[in-house]
Amino acid sequence: MATEIRTKLLKMFTKSNGEFLSGQKISEELGCSRTAVWKHIEELRQAGYELEAIRRKGYRITKIPEKISSNEISLGLKTLNLGRVIHFEESVGSTQKIAHQLAHDGALEGTLVVAEEQTSGRGRLNREWFSPKYTGVWMSLILRPNLPPAKAPQLTLLTAVAISQAIEEVTSLRPDIKWPNDILLNKKKTVGILTEMQAEADKINSVIIGIGINVNQQLEHFPEELHTIATSLSIELKKPINRAELIQMVLLKFENLYQIYLEHGFYPIKLLWESYAISIGKKIIARTITGTLTGTAKGITEDGVLMLEGEDGKISYIHSADIELDNK
Ligand code: BTN
Repeated sequence: MATEIRTKLLKMFTKSNGEFLSGQKISEELGCSRTAVWKHIEELRQAGYELEAIRRKGYRITKIPEKISSNEISLGLKTLNLGRVIHFEESVGSTQKIAHQLAHDGALEGTLVVAEEQTSGRGRLNREWFSPKYTGVWMSLILRPNLPPAKAPQLTLLTAVAISQAIEEVTSLRPDIKWPNDILLNKKKTVGILTEMQAEADKINSVIIGIGINVNQQLEHFPEELHTIATSLSIELKKPINRAELIQMVLLKFENLYQIYLEHGFYPIKLLWESYAISIGKKIIARTITGTLTGTAKGITEDGVLMLEGEDGKISYIHSADIELDNK
């Protein structure tokens, strides 16, 4: 099937939200005969989609293929640079590790490492990141911005905005961002971002943005200890999500914001970030490596540092911490 037709057809099914689409409607929108529609539907089945067909009602997708491929990500990718080179792996330790090696060996900006599974996925603060097969988006993006190393945390916040926008576009769900870079749905963690850097004293060589999105897991797929604190897009949306489409959207949103950032600086990104931020204006508990602070989150600085106002009105600047909303 020609790629554009498949993309158009899949978009129609996504828009129909699980409702049946009549053969007539499909043939009108695609501008082809009813026989051609039937052929396209068969081709989708060949590609691993499961479709229900009912006379007089039409078709609806009941299951999307579990596996994705580098081809599927590339087809329909609308970016200029990001994701134009993809290293796609079935199973890896961590995509971060591969991306670091590729960056060290001179990989171009925008190079993307995607894996179907990570056996030692890494999270922030040396935690593990649970990355089971065929259910999530586990990927690392290589950037080479001409910036001083101190600016790298801004890219983490930019990434959180890009992913939030992509989630909104693909699912219509509105995520919350918890400083600095956790993305939550229904107050549970859905996305984690890990930004690492190869730099000299005054110059970034590369930034590796690690992105983990829980997409199609069901609750029983998560280890017991994560049941109350983690969720997936599909749990919240109550239907499976096309992971390749989500990756394409994340890259597109990222590229747009990255361009704005490089041309106009962090301020426009900061405003967008604040529009998703859950903790601003609220009482929070911040656990840092040197101790625990409580107070009201006032906002972030130009550098993405969290400003916390204590009971005495004094502002503390927090560079790294685990944040919890103080519900007392
Ligand atoms: C966090 O702790 O919130 C950050 C999690 C980052 C996970 C992603 S998954 C892809 C990339 N590879 C890794 O090993 N980690 C990041």
